[in-house]
Amino acid sequence: MEISKSARNGIGMPLVGFGTYQLSIEQAEFCVSEAIKAGFRHIDSAEGYENEVGTGRGIKKGLEESGLAREDIFVTTKLFPGYKPWGSHEKNFEETIENLKRQLKELQLDYVDLYLIHAPLSGLRLEQWKALIELRRMGLAKHIGVSNYDEARIREILDAGLAKPEANQVEFHPICARVELSRYMKENSIEPIAYSSLAPLSSWRVEKGQGGEVLSEVKEGSQSTIREIAAKLNVSEAKLLLRWGLQHGYSVLTKSSKPERIKENLELFNFEIPDGDMERLDGLDQNRAIAWAASGINPMEAAPPLK
Ligand SMILES: NC(=O)c1ccc[n+]([C@@H]2O[C@H](COP(=O)([O-])OP(=O)(O)OC[C@H]3O[C@@H](n4cnc5c(N)ncnc54)[C@H](OP(=O)(O)O)[C@@H]3O)[C@@H](O)[C@H]2O)c1
Repeated sequence: MEISKSARNGIGMPLVGFGTYQLSIEQAEFCVSEAIKAGFRHIDSAEGYENEVGTGRGIKKGLEESGLAREDIFVTTKLFPGYKPWGSHEKNFEETIENLKRQLKELQLDYVDLYLIHAPLSGLRLEQWKALIELRRMGLAKHIGVSNYDEARIREILDAGLAKPEANQVEFHPICARVELSRYMKENSIEPIAYSSLAPLSSWRVEKGQGGEVLSEVKEGSQSTIREIAAKLNVSEAKLLLRWGLQHGYSVLTKSSKPERIKENLELFNFEIPDGDMERLDGLDQNRAIAWAASGINPMEAAPPLK
């Protein structure tokens, strides 16, 4: 895969996307418009982030102020499938269809470029997947995929004779390198999208209530290697981690509430990580997921039996 600012993956997704998790409605409006003005052409949203009204306003403002059209950007959003242990209702086929229609209203869009099931947390996940296929047929989602699905959960869809997910969004950084799953997705032409690329950093989710301290001990041993390689290449640690994801063939997402970091996180195309340093970073793998730790579950391991 060519790595450049204008390059896109197999479903037309720009390689670097702006994430909106843990932004308030007001922050989402401001940061999404800043991100578009800074050059981001992919916005990653979700029902579960409870800020899609702000993201929608930010998209509108960012497009207007940059003189861009809707087709110039790629918008992803996600269905929250419901999760019984949290008392969250599991959505059936009809509810899934209605859900995206409601999300589109909040986002002020006619369609999304990619609609994902946020995680395999519901026993109705095959029914929800059938609804996503229908949403694609209706033109409300140009592409459909999943998130936090392991190989077994993807096979479940294929074994049911249903259309293949076009993408899978997963936690992916040197401490959580998903070697087997990445190989499986590549073999099956499922586009890999990385989230929480910056989880190894000590600056990740440090504000009160963001939960970055949970499992922070897992990453401490990796930080000196990341720091050392970033200093050698004369780039920030954040840029090093995002570039590592790109060089592994992933599209990457990154979130910041700060305009200067929003700009910095897009500057990934004027340096390259040499093979030897890629190998050193690969050597940090512990196959440990960190991103959902504060919520008390690992979304890849929480799937209930099918109903
Ligand atoms: N599908 C899923 O289950 C799932 C799960 C998690 C995330 N996601 C998606 O992926 C996106 C990215 O993941 P994430 O939210 O964990 O974000 P991330 O980009 O990996 O990390 C964001 C954290 O790092 C800090 N940060 C950002 N840029 C930095 C820089 N240049 N230097 C130092 N620190 C920096 C941010 O602080 P400030 O904001 O203070 O700058 C924030 O605390 C999410 O926003 C969401 O869209 C999906």
